[in-house]
Amino acid sequence: MTKLLKEQQSSEVDVVLDASFIKAWSIRHPTDNQTGFSDADARVGRSGRSFALGYKLHLSIDHKTMLPLSSVFASANQNEKKHSLTILDKAKRILQRCKAKVRSVVADSQYSDSKLRDAVEKATIPYPANHMKGVAGLLRVDRKFRTYGSGEQRMEYHKRPLIEAVNSFLKTQFSMANNKVRGLKQVAFYALCSILCLVLIREAAQNIGKHEKAVKGKNVPSNQPCALCRCGESKNKPFCDGTHAKVGFKGAETASKKPHDKQAKVMDGPTLKLEDAPALCAAARFCHRGGGT
Ligand code: FES
Repeated sequence: MTKLLKEQQSSEVDVVLDASFIKAWSIRHPTDNQTGFSDADARVGRSGRSFALGYKLHLSIDHKTMLPLSSVFASANQNEKKHSLTILDKAKRILQRCKAKVRSVVADSQYSDSKLRDAVEKATIPYPANHMKGVAGLLRVDRKFRTYGSGEQRMEYHKRPLIEAVNSFLKTQFSMANNKVRGLKQVAFYALCSILCLVLIREAAQNIGKHEKAVKGKNVPSNQPCALCRCGESKNKPFCDGTHAKVGFKGAETASKKPHDKQAKVMDGPTLKLEDAPALCAAARFCHRGGGT
């Protein structure tokens, strides 16, 4: 990795931090809902919009090369801030070996912490909505990922999705999320093997002078029409290879196109009438159309 970083010849590096969920190969304990049944190290933590049993890979990457710099593995219930300084210190050490240093850190609001901000010259980390209320010009991000703050901060923050691309690459190309092992040490070793494969492929691509092949993937000419797979069975995803005909996929739309009020049943209450169209309802117990609970 040091060799790859040296070849990039950057003396100042923008480091991007993020945590990625790795599902445990276990179920919840029948008497302790927060712990794994067959994997005592696994804990319940946030996985996307829900909660699941597993671990977290806390990762830092170099924004320019998208190379992993440092990582920490922990149970999924552990907060990002707990490991942020450790990951940063590890990244600083590896960069020192390449005679480079950290120019800035870019991370999500889970990393909003004064100690992390003080540890670097420049930190692009949004403040959560309930911190520093009323202070204008601070970088903030809302639930729909809309950014608020100065133009420069917002531009810097747009480097953050690169780490999601690396995490997704590790999961889809190097099976990082398909672990069939239990225990923190074993899961960490399994995930480290995925990271190592990524680094080795990058090195191999660099050695043959085709660095971009390992970073960008396949180039698709944009001026040619192409068919995308909807059946999920293609061997050449995301493109259709004709397998849909063999598996008997029926792609015709079957949902009703009637508007909501034509599909809804009306139920009379003591003071209100309730309209309900079960086919259109997510049964989430709050109404999107009404915008409330
Ligand atoms: S739609 Fe999936 S292979 Fe054609």
